[in-house]
Amino acid sequence: MLTVAILAAGKGSRMASSMPKVLHKLAGKTLLQRVIDSCNELNPDKIFIIIGHKSQEVENSVIKNNNICFIVQNPQKGTGHAVQVLTQQVKKNKGKLIVLNGDVPLIKAETLRKLIDYHDTKKADVSLITTKKKNPVGYGRVFAKDNLIQMIVEEKDCDKSQRLNLLINAGIYCFNWESLSKIINNLRSNNKQNEIYITDTIAMLKKSYSFEVVDNGELQGINNRVQLSKCEETIQTLIKKKHMIGGVTFINPASCTISEDSIIGLDVTIEANTHIRGKSIIFNNCKIGPNTFIEDSIVEENSEIINSTIFNSHIMENVNIGPYSHIRPNCEISSCCKIGNFVELKNSNLDKEVKINHLSYIGDSNIGEYTNIGAGTITANFDGTKKHPTNIGKNSSIGANTVLIAPINLGDSVTTGAGSVITKDSKNNSLAIARSKQVNIENWKKNKSSS
Ligand code: UD1
Ligand code: MG
Repeated sequence: MLTVAILAAGKGSRMASSMPKVLHKLAGKTLLQRVIDSCNELNPDKIFIIIGHKSQEVENSVIKNNNICFIVQNPQKGTGHAVQVLTQQVKKNKGKLIVLNGDVPLIKAETLRKLIDYHDTKKADVSLITTKKKNPVGYGRVFAKDNLIQMIVEEKDCDKSQRLNLLINAGIYCFNWESLSKIINNLRSNNKQNEIYITDTIAMLKKSYSFEVVDNGELQGINNRVQLSKCEETIQTLIKKKHMIGGVTFINPASCTISEDSIIGLDVTIEANTHIRGKSIIFNNCKIGPNTFIEDSIVEENSEIINSTIFNSHIMENVNIGPYSHIRPNCEISSCCKIGNFVELKNSNLDKEVKINHLSYIGDSNIGEYTNIGAGTITANFDGTKKHPTNIGKNSSIGANTVLIAPINLGDSVTTGAGSVITKDSKNNSLAIARSKQVNIENWKKNKSSS
């Protein structure tokens, strides 16, 4: 039987945040969810998540499945106390218990599997992941001989010479449940922090083993925002490397961030300062950036986007967007469309080859193929209480500075005069003009000033 416990009840004071530490995000995913995702890969019988500080918020953030259970630790008296609360509530258990700190987010399932194998080979009471760190500040120091651990001393409780020990506790343990339950209630809080430490179980158990690994960044614990940003850097480097190996060109990778869940096709070029977030898909041969933000959107083959932001929308192939376009959620932009400077689109469908080149707001609209929207066209979709749709057929030409007062329907091949305020529907093949006629007064002179 394999049980997992993830310790996530602490406040995380060193983050200086109103949000619980484990809810801070790396590449768009919370620290806690990252640990859970790695544990799910082990197919454990149960995952207990120990929550306490802002427990409801933490519980709500988790992607649930049948194996996940929450245990409330209130008040939070330390990592050892968290495990005491677990063993008090879950009595009839056996086999192995993996305990992980919820703030060590980059741990891989593969490393956990190796820990379990090592634990089985040694027939240990507890095995824990250790590593040598050049700068071990903040970590518990592990004192071991031939991998058999005598004790762990927390940094705050170390004397000068103990601090020089570079072997640290990564906060990931594999316990034998029966051995642990015999001693867990003997833990005391006689230390500098007056907390009940899980690390004190090590000296109480006979066969405590150190599973020492070379740390490639996976064991980084996060206690403050400097460490959070270091981890983000580690993840970003890995993500971009994966895409580069897979056929994506980054002009200036350090200035770009890419979410883990985004997919990027072959021969895509990502220019400087470009950020692809959420679950986005960029198809082959696209050119994205510089200075572009894309979230939860699809961009199909050969499209080019420059200096623009796109949210939750679908851009088809051979589309040109930008510079300075803002595509808000729920837009469907068909092939060969051109969206240009200072154009804002929202909740709109554009058929193929629609052009909106300059200075427009198009919202809640459907626009037919080959229609051209002139510079400065505005769909006035809001009457103060409700939003209304604008429908424009194919092959139409909307004159510059047209205001379309929605709800409004214009047919196919409709032309509107520049500067018109269109309030009535227009049929196919018509011209709609709504502006005062120009008056020319000839031989007119300016009044001379009387003074
Ligand atoms: C802990 C270890 C330290 C190790 C380091 C690795 C102890 C005493 N020390 O220190 O040896 O090197 O992790 O990163 O365990 N938590 C609870 N309930 C509590 C207190 C904490 O669930 O009452 C949770 C926290 O939410 C956090 C985790 O336990 O996710 C670790 O707590 P933290 O305070 O970060 O421990 P460290 O000081 O990092
Ligand atoms: Mg920590």
